[in-house]
Parts: sequence; structure tokens; C-alpha cells
Amino acid sequence: MEYLVKSGSPEKQRVGCVIVGIFDRRKPSTQAEALDAASGGLIASVMRRGDMDGKLGQTTVLHGLGDLFCDRILLVGCGKERDFNTRAYQKACAAAAAELDAMGGVDAAFYLTELNVRGRDDFGWSVKQALLTIEDNFYRFEACKGPSYEKHSRKLSRLVFQVPRRSDLPAAERGVNEGVATANGVKFAKDLANMPGNICTPTYLADQATSLSDRMNGLKTQVLEEADMEALGMGALLGVSRGSSQPAKLIVMEYNNGTKSDKPTVLVGKGVTFDAGGISLKPGAAMDEMKYDMGGAASVFGAMQAAVEMNLPINVVGVIAATENLPDGDAYKPGDILTSMSGQTIEILNTDAEGRLALADALTYVERNYDPDAVVDMATLTGAAVIALGHEAAALYGNNSPLRRALRDAGDQVGDRAWPMPLWEEYQSDLDSNFADMANVGGRAGGSITAASFLHRFARKLRWAHLDIAGVAWKSGKEKGATGRPVSLLTQYLIDRTYQG
Ligand code: BES
Ligand code: MN
Ligand code: ZN
Repeated sequence: MEYLVKSGSPEKQRVGCVIVGIFDRRKPSTQAEALDAASGGLIASVMRRGDMDGKLGQTTVLHGLGDLFCDRILLVGCGKERDFNTRAYQKACAAAAAELDAMGGVDAAFYLTELNVRGRDDFGWSVKQALLTIEDNFYRFEACKGPSYEKHSRKLSRLVFQVPRRSDLPAAERGVNEGVATANGVKFAKDLANMPGNICTPTYLADQATSLSDRMNGLKTQVLEEADMEALGMGALLGVSRGSSQPAKLIVMEYNNGTKSDKPTVLVGKGVTFDAGGISLKPGAAMDEMKYDMGGAASVFGAMQAAVEMNLPINVVGVIAATENLPDGDAYKPGDILTSMSGQTIEILNTDAEGRLALADALTYVERNYDPDAVVDMATLTGAAVIALGHEAAALYGNNSPLRRALRDAGDQVGDRAWPMPLWEEYQSDLDSNFADMANVGGRAGGSITAASFLHRFARKLRWAHLDIAGVAWKSGKEKGATGRPVSLLTQYLIDRTYQG
């Protein structure tokens, strides 16, 4: 799909489709009014017949437009004008995307970007948000369908985001550039996460990193094998991996496009390519969804790719702890004590709390090998995060408040939100062990917090934040599929860091 930006009136567009908004109570937007005037009241008559009231998310396609230059008009309900906020805008864009996905025309002029969104005053934002919402809706995972499957084909190949004035074009242009790179990163993350566990193994992820750095200039990949991890004393990550016949991989991607003295931002991802729970076996229901337990790793891939694609002048490192968690005769067991790379020992009380073990060694590796500006880890870490925040927000933790603030703001910018959670020392005693320096689980209470508190023990020397993305990385049910979150948040964070130095 080609995305462009232009300014110009809707009634003059020679395109397959012109997309304009209608507010609730049949109130045409300025752009719909212009089309109405040029067509001798066509839109007013459609509304009079009751086909479009302007309810949020409602859509109607008009054909046979007489004197107008365009082949179709897509009317999109935008809800009450005074309630037209970020959420309403996203909903309207999503409704438009669903129609565009099925429409016959090859090109379209998109005018929802000209509407005033409450609390937003930047057309760059409007364009980027529309682009991300549209690409999200267009996505399909078709890689594993058989030969008789008819792939979805979309006629639309060029979409023009309209802005009111020529002077708005630079901002809109920036919105397209950032939007396209972000959307490509989101798509990459979705593809990796949707890939089944028998294909997407730790080795597959390592191969993906190698081919990403072959594909993208300036990106270097290094893969640590189990022998390397052994030499480094990564007993926590290796403990998890013991139950699997697939070898674990520690994947390190470096993108050095800033100055030498520029401290890197390090992104760390949980890459458990399948989590059966190990000897503390999970129940069978929905266990297939544990192929998504590498969603954190997928988001590192997506954000790295986006940063390189935008040629951001910064230093970024991506670190992925990739392993499976399976039961086996040689698997680690409850009661086992593992020695982490940091030297801290861990009593295993539940082998299903494996993500924190893999991440612990990854964090120590980062501490020993880099002097980062900030370290952010992403992990589908706990079911408790889903209980706490549902599927709207990732749980956000960290030991540095400007970093937490920056991540939260970045998420707010791109509709990929994270919400702050406490990391108080009082929670640490939940991890007390009679036999080792700590246990790998606390009680049932505050499960996402104690998991974060566990990670904190390996990140004390770092400016560090942790996103528990268990509730947001994928959707269940009929819509089952990866979301690509939090690639947009991370990419926005990297963009913000570029401008703020
Ligand atoms: N990958 C899971 C977390 C998870 C479970 C995410 C369900 C999304 C949906 C993680 O490895 C895990 O199993 N966590 C345990 C921790 C518990 C044993 C302390 C959990 O959340 O149940
Ligand atoms: Mn688990
Ligand atoms: Zn897991």
C-alpha cells in the first residue's frame, strides 16, 4: 500500500473513493458539506432516507454520483462532534478501514484526518494514527494456509491522507514516514508471534535476527549458544531450557547509528517460543496461546526494524532470551536451585514462572556488557497482569520515574497504552526462600508485582523499566491473533529520545 499526503477539496478528487465524516444527528463534517454542495444535496438526501445518522463506526458507501469526479463516497459515522476524542477517531478510522479492505477502487482520498480530534492539535498525529489503525485492520496471517487457500486480495493500493492547508503537509509527511515504519514493525512482530511453536523455535528467532541484519544496513546480530551461556554462568536461562530438545539462544542485535558517546537504549524481550509450564504443567485449556509467550521478543524485533527503517540517529541494542519451557525427564523441577549469572541463587517453586528466570540472566548480561541510558524489558510474564489491567494496558514498572513517564507518554501518543504499577520494596519479602537467595514465585496475591520485583533484583544497577504485556500481546477467541503490541509504544519512545537527545 502506498500512502501519500495532500491538501485540496474533496469535491475535486478524481479517485476511486472519497472518505468523509458524518457526526451524530446527521451533522455533516465540513468535507461532507463540500461534497453535498457539489452534488446538489446527495449526502443530505442519503441521511434523510435514514442510511446514515452519524453514529460512531457506522458506514455507508455511495455509488452513482453524477457530476462528482470520484467513483464512490464512503461516509463514516463519527459520533457526537463534541465527543470526538482519540478513541472516537480510532474507531472511525477502523470502520473506514474495514470498508476500504473490501472496496473495488484502487485509490482513495481520506478526509477523516482533517477533523479536529479533542486534545490533539497535530495533523502528523492524525495521519500516523489513521495509518496505524488502517494497517492493523488490513493485517492477515496467511503464511500457514494450504495451497487451495485463496489469499485475500485488496484492490486498494494508494491512499491519500488529506490535510486542510499546504502548511500542514510537512507534519503529515512525518506522520506517514513514522507511521509506515511503525506499521511495518508491528506487522513483523505479529508475523513472528502468530507463527506456530513448531516453526517459531529459539533457533528460528535467531535466524530471523540474522536475516534482519542482512536485510537492514547498520544492524549487527550476535547469537550466543548454550555453550556460550554455560561459560557465562547463565544457570537461570539454561535451567528453563533443560526440558526442551530445542537449544536456547541469547540473541543480541546492535544498531549503532548515534555518536560513540551516546549511551544505548537496550530493549530486552522474553522469547519463550512455547510455554507448557514445564513440570508444573499448565492446564490444557487455551494452551495453544502459549505460542505467544515470545511476544516480548517479537516487539523487540519490530521496534528494532522500525528504528533502522527510520534511520534514527541513536544507539539501540535488542536482547532476546529465547527458549522453550517443556516437561521432560531432564527438565528442571520444583525444589531445584539455580545459580543465575549474577551469582544470586533461585529456588524454583514453580517451573511455570520461567520468563523471569530467562530475563534475569538477560538483564545481567546487559549490565555486564553495556553502559545503557535505559533498559526496557517486555514480557508476557504473568496471568496476574491480565487480571489487574485486562486487555487495554500493559503493566508498567521501573526504578526511574522519568523513564516510566517517557514510556507512558509514548504509549499514549500511539494508542498503545501502559499503566503504572508499584515496585515497592515491601513486596520483595514475598520472594523469601529458606534455601536460596530468593524463590522464583511469590504467593497468588499481586502476581504481576512480585514478578516485576523478582526482575528488579537483577536490574538494580540499571535505569530499568519492565512492561508486563500478558494482557495486550494477543487476542483470544474468534479474533485470535497477535496484536504487535507494544511495538508502537517502543518505536515512539525511540523517536522521542531522538528529538530530546
Ligand atoms: N507465560 C506465562 C504468563 C501468561 C499466562 C501470560 C497466561 C498470559 C496468559 C508465564 O510464564 C506464567 O506461566 N506465569 C505464571 C506465574 C505463576 C506460576 C507465578 C502465571 O501467571 O500463572
Ligand atoms: Mn510459564
Ligand atoms: Zn511464560
